[in-house]
Formats: sequence, structure tokens, C-alpha cells
Amino acid sequence: MRKKIVAGNWKMNTLPAEGVELAKGVVAGRKEVCECVNFIVCAPFTHLSMVAEALKGSDVELGAQNCAAEAKGAYTGEVSASMIAALGCKYVILGHSERRQYYGETSETLNRKMEQAYANGLTPIYCVGENLEEREAGNHFAVCKQQIEEVVFNLTEEQFKNLVIAYEPVWAIGTGKTATADQAQEIHAYIREVLASKFGAAADECPILYGGSCKPSNAQEIFAKADVDGGLIGGAALKAEDFLGIGKGF
Ligand code: PGA
Repeated sequence: MRKKIVAGNWKMNTLPAEGVELAKGVVAGRKEVCECVNFIVCAPFTHLSMVAEALKGSDVELGAQNCAAEAKGAYTGEVSASMIAALGCKYVILGHSERRQYYGETSETLNRKMEQAYANGLTPIYCVGENLEEREAGNHFAVCKQQIEEVVFNLTEEQFKNLVIAYEPVWAIGTGKTATADQAQEIHAYIREVLASKFGAAADECPILYGGSCKPSNAQEIFAKADVDGGLIGGAALKAEDFLGIGKGF
């Protein structure tokens, strides 16, 4: 049985006190959702220690949205994997399309970030996904395959066992457009096939999350698909009720 995961990506939203309120709301409502669902909140760096405190005693886990590609040193403005791990993070989102697009993250950078994450005991949530042009040209399979081959294929078998993949079509992120459940299933199954070509049966254990305008009203249909193991949630993760409502989609 693969883990069922609903992970919230708060992006650059909320002030620290608001983030704490949001986390408290998630903790309070969490009991109404099946224990089988693993909730993760990925808060901004500035909120991590306060949110960690708010999550104490609950099974809601903490993640960050990025980490540096280097271990430590003269890298002004960067935040290392060891720093976020020390604040209680268990997860780190890597390769989000916004980081690839706006901050020029390449597979080369991401390989180094992945190494840092694993060196500090973090589980990466590694994002892949095509943009609209690539989807319309029918290149979505090739794009996802390449993003996996160039990064995930460099992991050891041990590291691969501690990996979450998020498929996020760029055209569905924050646009209100969602991939249909069938579109999600088709590419999730394909991604699992690509993973299996390298890691064999271990690919059956790797959670693959869907991301892109996921909300309580569409989660159930998408999560019902065989190869969809949950969601990476942006906008709808900013309201505890909606975030938890997505978890009820299982
Ligand atoms: P969205 O974002 O749910 O707002 O579309 C998802 C994401 O980018 O992780």
C-alpha cells in the first residue's frame, strides 16, 4: 500500500502569525479526516519554527519549499537543508515549476539540492510537469521523462525509497484549470513506468501526487485513480477547511 499524501504548498503567502493560525486550523480539523491520509504543510522559511511549534503533538508534518544546493558557507540569502531539518522539517519541495521558471533551476542544480536533502534526512517532493505549449505539442510524456531521468535516476535505491513525486502540469497551476482525472492517471501511470525502468518494483511504493488547481470539489475524482496517491496543493492549502476537505477526497 502506497502512502496517501496531501501536501500544502503555501508558496510566498501568509505572514508568520497567519501561518500559525492556518497550521492550528489544520491540526484542529485533522481528526475529521481518515488517519490514513498523511498531511504535510510546506510553509515559508520564516514561518518554519513557529509552525513546527503549532504542529507539535499532531501527525501533521512540516516541509519547506526549497533548500540550497550547497551545505553551508558564503551563499548570502540561501537556506541550507541542515537548517530546515533542524527546525523540524521532514520534507522539502524541489524542482517546483515556479523555481525552474523564475529562478532558473536546472537539473544540475536540482541534483545538488537532492543530495543536500538526503544528506540531512529530508524526503524530497520532486516536481515534474509540462507547460501548455509542451502539452499541446504532445510532448508531456517526454518532458516528464527527461525531468525524471536527469535527476531521479541519479539517486541510489536507498534514496529512491524516500522520495515523493509530484506531477504538476504548469498550465493547471493557479489557473483554475485542472487536468482531468483520466489525464492525471495516464501520465502518473507513465511516470511510474519510467521509475520502474530504473528502480524496478520499488516504483510501486513511490507516492505520485497530482498538483494544479486541486480543490475539495475535484479531489475525489482525481484521487480515485489507481496511480494518483494524493495532491500537492497551492491555493486551496491556504484555507484549513479546503485543505482538509481535499484529504476527504480519499
Ligand atoms: P495550485 O498550485 O493548487 O494553486 O494550482 C499547486 C502548486 O503549484 O503546488
